[in-house]
Amino acid sequence: MAQAAFDVSRDAMRIDLEATAPAASPLFQAIPQRQSTRGQYDGNPLSAGDMRALERAASGGGVQLILLSGKPALERALEFVVEGNRAQVRDKAFVEELKAWIRFSASDAVSLGDGLYSASSGNPSVPSWLGRRMFNVFFTEKGENDKYAKHVRSSAGIAVFVGAGDGKAGWLEVGRAYQRFALQATALGVRTAHLNQPVEVAALRPAFASFLGLPGRRPDLVVRFGRGPTMPPSLRRPVQAVLA
Ligand SMILES: Cc1cc2nc3c(=O)[nH]c(=O)nc-3n(C[C@H](O)[C@H](O)[C@H](O)COP(=O)(O)O)c2cc1C
Repeated sequence: MAQAAFDVSRDAMRIDLEATAPAASPLFQAIPQRQSTRGQYDGNPLSAGDMRALERAASGGGVQLILLSGKPALERALEFVVEGNRAQVRDKAFVEELKAWIRFSASDAVSLGDGLYSASSGNPSVPSWLGRRMFNVFFTEKGENDKYAKHVRSSAGIAVFVGAGDGKAGWLEVGRAYQRFALQATALGVRTAHLNQPVEVAALRPAFASFLGLPGRRPDLVVRFGRGPTMPPSLRRPVQAVLA
């Protein structure tokens, strides 16, 4: 059993472990299957029961979850995504960082064991030198915006996570709420993918918060969800490689 809390004096997350009888929960069993699925979904809404299960999973730690669904709300959210995307595609530093995280070839993805494997976004897996050149040609404002429009319009909804305060303790709780949400979605056969442009582009955040009915608050994460096919997964490092 684990009790996790942010320790302000150490500026770190403290996790106390207690011995307990092992029990497999649906969320635990979903861990190996969970992946960010950056493809098109099937456009169908989720049942009220599924929506409630997602809401329950995300609750806790003072995190507020806003679930957007229905055409008008999703179209308005898409406008924020597109505006944020436009700003990011025009930002050289952002594009360079994105490129540095992409693993263009399967061999890079396997040998580095991290980052975003090209095929996970529906792009071809090619040698790294070729992938970088293709990225420079094909990564355009219009191309990205059209892709996000298809992604949002095929989703059942968008979840926005809003932490209790603007600080590390609140951010960690948002991360935990998101992870429970994504694992619950996985257990229900529902896919998820981030759409963080409206919160990553700081200038857009206040208007996005007002659209959510939370003026003055700080939305932290934006995630679309829906049913659809899986994509090739991103690679993960073994636990021993990330825990000292
Ligand atoms: C805080 C946070 C923000 C993220 N933002 C984005 C994003 O804006 N766009 C995106 O495609 N993926 C985003 N991701 C997803 C990561 O790229 C993804 O988790 C990583 O590639 C590992 O893949 P997996 O989730 O399939 O295991 C984000 C992940 C986290 C934890």
